[in-house]
Amino acid sequence: MRITSLQHYHEQYQFSIQQPEQFWSRVAEEFVWNKKWDKVLEWNFEQPDVKWFINGKLNITENCLDRHLDARGDQVAYYWEPNDNDDEPRSYTYRQLYHEVCKVANVMKRKGITKGDRVCLYMPMVPELAIAVLACARIGAVHSVVFAGFSASSLAGRIQDSDCKMVLTTDGAYRGAKEIPIKKVVDEALELCPSVEHVIVLNRTGEAVHMQQGRDTWWHDEIRDVADECPAEQMDSEDLLFILYTSGSTGKPKGVVHTCGGYMVYASYTFQNVFQYREGEVYWCTADIGWITGHSYIVYGPLLCGATSVLFEGVPTFPDAGRFWQVVDKYHVNVFYTAPTAIRALEAAGVDFVKPYKLSSLRVLGSVGEPINVEAWQWYSDNIGKGQCPIVDTWWQTETGGIMISPLADITPTKPGFATLPLPGIQPILVDDKGNEIEGNGVEGNLCIKFPWPGMIRTTYGDHERCRTNYFATYKNLYFTGDGCKRDEDGYYRITGRVDDVINVSGHRIGTAEVESAINMHPDIVESAVVGFPHDIKGQGIYAYVISTKQNDDQELLRKEIIAEVNKFIGPIAKPDKIQIVSGLPKTRSGKIMRRILRKVAEGELSNLGDTSTLLDPAVVDEIVKGRL
Ligand code: WTA
Repeated sequence: MRITSLQHYHEQYQFSIQQPEQFWSRVAEEFVWNKKWDKVLEWNFEQPDVKWFINGKLNITENCLDRHLDARGDQVAYYWEPNDNDDEPRSYTYRQLYHEVCKVANVMKRKGITKGDRVCLYMPMVPELAIAVLACARIGAVHSVVFAGFSASSLAGRIQDSDCKMVLTTDGAYRGAKEIPIKKVVDEALELCPSVEHVIVLNRTGEAVHMQQGRDTWWHDEIRDVADECPAEQMDSEDLLFILYTSGSTGKPKGVVHTCGGYMVYASYTFQNVFQYREGEVYWCTADIGWITGHSYIVYGPLLCGATSVLFEGVPTFPDAGRFWQVVDKYHVNVFYTAPTAIRALEAAGVDFVKPYKLSSLRVLGSVGEPINVEAWQWYSDNIGKGQCPIVDTWWQTETGGIMISPLADITPTKPGFATLPLPGIQPILVDDKGNEIEGNGVEGNLCIKFPWPGMIRTTYGDHERCRTNYFATYKNLYFTGDGCKRDEDGYYRITGRVDDVINVSGHRIGTAEVESAINMHPDIVESAVVGFPHDIKGQGIYAYVISTKQNDDQELLRKEIIAEVNKFIGPIAKPDKIQIVSGLPKTRSGKIMRRILRKVAEGELSNLGDTSTLLDPAVVDEIVKGRL
């Protein structure tokens, strides 16, 4: 159901909150269901227990692929642009993609994978990653994609948490000028993962890898003699589609669970309406499939809508900071979706990298993953959009499955820094710390959602209680996002950032607790506290305060070793930008670290540290301020 004007949006919005079941049932009717649902929605936010399109039967890949074969079998689904622009690009039509997906699905079946089994995908941005995702969905296996920048230890934790039976991976990866070992990381991880029976390895870089007999086989050998048709497994609306691990404010990353029916309806509806994608256009989302943005807006959303997408293996600055714009011109990209951190990095590189390119095909620009500052918004609009393209600043989360608050391209008037208005079906509310609703406009509070939507999280894998306490227990009968938010005089929403202990570094969510436990693995570290601080390019950087048993030793060496620990336990994305070695941390008399003070020091807001009188030892604050980096 496409929204066509601002008035139409308002009408649809009203309809969606007055009669949510009728609204979503109309949206869902546009898909192929093997059996229609008996009931649209059952829910409570207490347990929580949310079910959409109850007893409906479907397979999402029939909607992504089979359904399009007659009308657009020969249309390109993906143009693949390799890391190195001298390498051969590839493209897949919908028909080719369909057959490739069926082949990999048959390979997985032959290896004994059946409906409900978990399969881990640890791969760089090659077309085979999208194919593998869809192949899992084809046979009802639950995919768990792990971003190929995570360490062996992180990968092992994720594989163990969901007992994956199989891993699909590559020998190595190209990322900018670097060549990264991938299979080696898998080998190391699998020493700790007895559940994995099979590993299928795609040849990407040709580097020598160890192949464990009886466990590891080559992708090209496996698909050689396999049928290119594979019947789609019939799935219930509420059967698991995928698990995606994401960081929270406490403990280990949690496996966010999305299910087949509601996720399909929501990914497609939001893709179509936010970007106002038109038949025949070329769409490019620069995210990695290892994150939710890649799941919903590289794989599922665009394919459900029959779109043509660019899939990019590389990075924005290789071979130089003009790469994005070169690719936009090369494929005549109409809709371009990226993250503020990339925009800021390219802005810093200078407009000389933009000038050689026409960029005349662009119609819509998108932003996702973190708050976009007004300056970056303006630069994006002026230099990339040439003042002609609407910017859709899309706010959402791994847990929401799809975009929640965003302008609709060319329909909603935009305002720099604002995600603007909720999509139909989405009922945001702001609450104070006690959970009281803050009504009216020109206000600020904690962002919650008060009514279910089809794409929402159903559980955290293997630990439903964690889902309840994380999202549904802070405020009664509300889903709590963890974000702070302003609603201005026009009723427009502006997300101000996380209000919990999650840091958003270059659009990647990182839990401070995870970084602390990695740092604490260093034998000389007694205790650590990690906070975020404003960073010009990354949005937020990581500031670590550490207490070491060896205060006076070589501090630079200690810093290097700490970074190595973080690389080992999480990956380079969680590397602290600043490490301050301290003799104590500000603690209350009950032993709680006063993070508020540490945050202020890291941010450089030294004049207003607040009340320090309740601290066990107020003198540590002076020392921390003096030693500030
Ligand atoms: C932040 C990414 C401001 C927010 C899709 C959220 C944003 C977290 C925006 C989710 C935006 C995402 N403006 N902040 N447009 N989009 N965020 O799960 O803090 O990787 O809670 O999902 O990113 O990150 P996640």
